[in-house]
Amino acid sequence: MEMTVIISNHPLVQHKLSILRNVNTEPKKFRQLVRELAALLTYEATSDLATTPVDVQTPLAVAHCRELKEKIGLVPILRAGLGMVEGVWELMPSSEVWHIGVYRDEKTLKPVQYYNKLPVEPRVQVCLILDPMLATGGSAVATADILKTWGVKKIKFVGLIGAPEGIALMEKHHPDVPIHLAAIDDHLNEKGYIVPGLGDAGDRQFGTG
Ligand code: PRP
Ligand code: URA
Repeated sequence: MEMTVIISNHPLVQHKLSILRNVNTEPKKFRQLVRELAALLTYEATSDLATTPVDVQTPLAVAHCRELKEKIGLVPILRAGLGMVEGVWELMPSSEVWHIGVYRDEKTLKPVQYYNKLPVEPRVQVCLILDPMLATGGSAVATADILKTWGVKKIKFVGLIGAPEGIALMEKHHPDVPIHLAAIDDHLNEKGYIVPGLGDAGDRQFGTG
């Protein structure tokens, strides 16, 4: 199965990404851009969601409309994915937000799971994994594993910047999970950071760097 990787070429996305990457961009502006980019990328990532017909009474007549058919779950990977939630939630206010805590061990770069309060049965049909950075891909693969074990059939990954290594790992483990990004960068450095990237997405949002 060939995996779908979609890089947004939208001028607004590329413009905002250029400010996000800038080392001089302050946390407040950085958070705003993460929120806005998440919304723009999700707008594109949700273009194939199923809809169902619904008749709506306007002040004048009945209009034949369509509404979202499936329940959507937003799954931010803590911490950095948190900053993407608000922008996406504003577009889909009836979606549910399920947090997954995964961090990378600094030495091994392997994902360590530390938070998961998913109920026994899945309550959503579609999940959007939200995380700005797809570096080695360990965190994204671990989260997709968790969601599939939970029973979710349709999963998409929405991020901002990906590395070839992370995309390859997702393709190996979850080729059925489409990846939506604003950019694919060149490589990972010896510490597992995406180059040129934007640095540490969690630290830059929360001012902890
Ligand atoms: C960052 C980022 C991803 C992960 C990506 O999180 O937000 O979750 O690294 O790296 P990977 O593809 O190699 O797994 P980090 O572990 O720094 O935790 P944080 O969000 O709490 O800062
Ligand atoms: N996590 C980040 O926040 N940045 C990177 O470049 C890689 C992982």
